[in-house]
Amino acid sequence: MGLNVQIEVLSIPGSLTAPDAADFLAAAELVNIIERHTTGTDDFYQPPQTQLVRAMPQPYEQTLLAIARQDDRVIGRARVTLPLSDNTHLADVLVQVHPDHRRRGVGLALYRWAAAQAVAAGRTTFSSWSDHPVTADGVPAGRELPAATGSGRVPLDAPSVAFAMRLGFQLEQVERMSVLNLAGERDRLDALYRAQRPMESSPYELLSWRNDVPAPLLDAYAALRRTMSTAVPLGGMDFREEDWDGARVRHEEEQLRAGGGHMLVTVARHRSTGELAGHTVLEHYPATAAVAIQNDTLVLPEHRGHGLGLSLKLANLRLLRAEWPTVQRIHTFNAAENGPMLSINEAMGFVPASYTAQWQLTVTPPANQLPGERTA
Ligand SMILES: CC(C)(COP(=O)(O)OP(=O)(O)OC[C@H]1O[C@@H](n2cnc3c(N)ncnc32)[C@H](O)[C@@H]1OP(=O)(O)O)[C@@H](O)C(=O)NCCC(=O)NCCS
Repeated sequence: MGLNVQIEVLSIPGSLTAPDAADFLAAAELVNIIERHTTGTDDFYQPPQTQLVRAMPQPYEQTLLAIARQDDRVIGRARVTLPLSDNTHLADVLVQVHPDHRRRGVGLALYRWAAAQAVAAGRTTFSSWSDHPVTADGVPAGRELPAATGSGRVPLDAPSVAFAMRLGFQLEQVERMSVLNLAGERDRLDALYRAQRPMESSPYELLSWRNDVPAPLLDAYAALRRTMSTAVPLGGMDFREEDWDGARVRHEEEQLRAGGGHMLVTVARHRSTGELAGHTVLEHYPATAAVAIQNDTLVLPEHRGHGLGLSLKLANLRLLRAEWPTVQRIHTFNAAENGPMLSINEAMGFVPASYTAQWQLTVTPPANQLPGERTA
């Protein structure tokens, strides 16, 4: 790394207009430059305000940031995310370097800072991720790294793959990122709506809301979120059940609002017992007017086999058309081995656009240090 590159802790300003916000804004811009460079699209643009709200101190996770500065430019960033109320063995570590400044050791220097923070916080498992768009010509045969799950692979020649492997991370799982072009798939979606069994004759009813869950459903919805955290295929990723309750749901709603986002949620309620059987969530930021993100979709095991997964998604999509008319594309992320969810998405017209590598490293503390012992 050049002598004029420095790694500096990035303090998180109180607002984007605060006198000390310049470095945070430069790092936020860098994140978007790298995202565009990696994915070839601005669909995943993250407004600086959204990045700020996520980084601010809060009860469920702590975010630590550092920048690499060359002269007066921010050329790299490291982010360490530490869950605080569950999964306290984990640290999510993300290193990003401007495309014009790679292969000079900046990534390695940022990683050393991030790893030291995570170890000092007593974390013993590091997770990370990298994105790999689908290319027209595919990756050359024999130059692919398969996930430990056996489903999905990523190109061995990608810089992030070489970097993660150099640091000893394992490719535990690959997620497929798919996109649905709403105008292009209108006929297919209309046909799916028409083929739906009328909900009036179903043992389930669908309820939808914008942003804030109605108070009578709060605890039941929190229970779905808790289940969702481990209901998806996780491969070898050591993610444990998240500690969701009503207060955490309200916190998430507040964070989304403060970051400029909106969500649409549809749940299925079993009429005779009143139990919530499943949910689905769409998220949208006006800064990316043409884009929405399909987040969670869950149907509890005892309520599967009734077509609820598709019904939930179609109902939320219908709401999206009314509430967010500018949206043209929906992106979603699923484990490459999640056959049931992928087949629903394919039926709706989602097609693969990229793959996300899920990396993991189990940290072995030095012999003279107990696991979790603080070093700082
Ligand atoms: C991955 C990334 C952070 C690497 O940053 P960098 O500053 O170029 O990394 P470094 O120069 O410190 O490289 C450290 C080592 O990683 C490996 N490496 C990094 N890029 C590589 C590449 N393009 N080809 C082969 N090996 C590579 C090498 O072993 C390198 O050591 P060497 O240069 O002595 O051979 C950068 O490419 C990036 O920002 N990618 C997009 C963001 C991302 O996906 N981050 C998640 C990573 S898990």
